[in-house]
Amino acid sequence: MAKAVCPGSFDPVTNGHVDIITRAADCFDEVVVALGVNESKQGLFSVDERLEFLRSVVADLPGVSVASFRGLLVEFCLSQDARTVVKGLRVAGDFDYEQPMAQMNRHLGGIETVFLPASGDHGFVSSSLVKEVAALGGDVSALVPPVVRGPLHDRLGR
Ligand code: PNS
Repeated sequence: MAKAVCPGSFDPVTNGHVDIITRAADCFDEVVVALGVNESKQGLFSVDERLEFLRSVVADLPGVSVASFRGLLVEFCLSQDARTVVKGLRVAGDFDYEQPMAQMNRHLGGIETVFLPASGDHGFVSSSLVKEVAALGGDVSALVPPVVRGPLHDRLGR
């Protein structure tokens, strides 16, 4: 049974993430959306809040579950019996950033990485830009799932 892990910080999950998760679910029997917890980095949303958003977003996607992990992504993948990581690529810079990590993950644990190109209408969407625009009073409602809109506005909106 083909199982993949879709890792990320998801602070917060965006429609770009949802696009990649949904398309990964079309390619694999099972997909685990894995929130990587970075202890040294303070997120806008807590790990529990981010997990709650993710669970809501994948609720209607068959074969998709949500988990968090600390430490190495390869260890998490192996603990899940998954041999494939799925990542989205928006621009060439994403590939430059992701390629060494993909090679490292293959070196460390034999985990392969599959890159999915972002859909055209999501190529500019990132969690960090969404937060910046929201903090400056811009409208990001079309860029994040409905469950994120209210909390994002409450946390950052003017
Ligand atoms: O959304 P992001 O910030 O691109 O997600 C980053 C994440 C969680 C996927 C990345 O930081 C990660 O893989 N963390 C696990 C740490 C690890 O395994 N490092 C060594 C492999 S290169």
